[in-house]
Amino acid sequence: MSLLKEIKKRRTFAIISHPDAGKTTLTEKLLLFGGAIQVAGAVKSNKIKKTATSDFMEIERQRGISVSTSVMAFEYRDTYINLLDTPGHKDFAEDTYRTLSAVDSVILVIDCVKGVEAQTEKLMEVCRMRDTPVIVFINKMDREGQDPFDLLDELEEKLSIKVRPVTWPINIGARFKGVYQLFNKKLNLFDPNVTKIEKDIIHISDLSDPRLVEEVGEEDAEVLQEEVELIEGVYDDLSLEAYRSGKLAPVFFGSALNNFGVKELLDTFIEIAPEPLPRTTDTRLIEPTEDKFSGFVFKIHANLDPRHRDRIAFLRVCSGKFERNKFFHHVRLKKNVRFSSPATFLASRKNIVEDAYPGDVIGLYDSGTFKIGDTLTEGEKLTFNGIPSFSPELFRIVVNTDPMKSKQLAKGLKQLTDEGVAQLFTQEHLGNQKIIGTVGELQFEVIQYRLKNEYKASCRFEHKSFYKACWLSSDSEEELDNFVKRKLKYIATDKAGNYVYMSPSEWILETERKNHPKIQFHFTSEFE
Ligand code: G4P
Repeated sequence: MSLLKEIKKRRTFAIISHPDAGKTTLTEKLLLFGGAIQVAGAVKSNKIKKTATSDFMEIERQRGISVSTSVMAFEYRDTYINLLDTPGHKDFAEDTYRTLSAVDSVILVIDCVKGVEAQTEKLMEVCRMRDTPVIVFINKMDREGQDPFDLLDELEEKLSIKVRPVTWPINIGARFKGVYQLFNKKLNLFDPNVTKIEKDIIHISDLSDPRLVEEVGEEDAEVLQEEVELIEGVYDDLSLEAYRSGKLAPVFFGSALNNFGVKELLDTFIEIAPEPLPRTTDTRLIEPTEDKFSGFVFKIHANLDPRHRDRIAFLRVCSGKFERNKFFHHVRLKKNVRFSSPATFLASRKNIVEDAYPGDVIGLYDSGTFKIGDTLTEGEKLTFNGIPSFSPELFRIVVNTDPMKSKQLAKGLKQLTDEGVAQLFTQEHLGNQKIIGTVGELQFEVIQYRLKNEYKASCRFEHKSFYKACWLSSDSEEELDNFVKRKLKYIATDKAGNYVYMSPSEWILETERKNHPKIQFHFTSEFE
């Protein structure tokens, strides 16, 4: 098959949600449709529950589960779908942000009872940064949720995106009768006791079809007619262009647990979701159709078993064809590398692959040559954008508690931060003092545990209450140098040697911004 045909067949996406909205359940139903699993319950939630923080074996076990579900590839109606999993726990938000750099679109799951939640907003911020196309699935319609119009308003308001319903619910909760497909004019009736894959769908010519009243009763038919009229009047038409540019989100209503509304979602998804898209680099735009292979590493998963120290680097293919045992250029290390057993994750099993195409994600066994954001090409020197580090929210100074093992500690910190577990900042003027920055408490425990188990190094952490780490830039080198000298106490460097201002408080940061208009303070490591 030609490269173009392979590309056209592929859709690469992630499901995102606030924990408990139903991401795992929906994932499972999609895999059932794709024949990737045969029974419900096969997909384990990768939720790392807060209660497990003191139980490291539990974290290991749960991380072990999430590696097998990191990428799930399946085929549906001749489309090759790569579904990338994102961790539910908020302490692993960075992992999620990076995974979103490797997808071309997302499905956002909302719990109809809870509406837009904190994580939903954060995740959507990341999607908006990249104009990622979003389809919304409003889940748990079998529960007493909020009014659907209120939910739509909330989505538009809190997520700053226009919405357009594609299906519309008939009642909610105990009285939920099903959904009406606004464009296909079909009625899907809901039966909570039926969870089979193909549901009876009633075709009606339009809302005045007498079968509508027969099926849902006069009162509900009337309400549906009124609401549909309102929708047609209030909401813009579903424009493919607006969806693909991330401005408008089609909305579906359903119940993942009852496998209701999922098929319509999947059918529409493969019809409208974008094929593998071009990607920006530090030198030029890379089109997927280019002959030469290129790709980037967006996630590294370590095997936590100290007897097997291998890691899997997850690489998204961006252009050309990846081939097993072929030499590719590792741009950062300026050396050629090849892989004898690259893995794909079809049907949630790992298989060795001979080749892979744009949109695909492959797992590369790695003994420490990769770090997040690394680019492979056929020789061209370029680096993909879009995998920034975000300012951490929690900071701790690392204190070595075993001076005989300082080398091991340095190596462990380097490798763990290469994997993206946390970020490492160095204060050279303080004898190379190391500061670890994370978005959640859990990472500190993970780091301490892994340093001990994998590197035989031990450390303790001292609290440091910085507000944010801000990457600095300026057109005037002199200004920047002066600022760094004057504020040395708050200056550190990241792993790439860039200056970072460790702001003690929001107020001080704002004051510094005002006092130094020629210096830019950035909350992410990638900026124009
Ligand atoms: P997550 O991955 O987004 O965190 O959510 P998950 O799918 O694990 O779902 C969270 C809970 O919501 C689960 O219940 C799940 O069964 C339930 N759920 C998912 N979809 C629906 C739905 O359409 N209707 C209803 N009523 N519930 C739904 P749990 O009790 O936390 O877990 P479990 O013991 O059922 O697995």
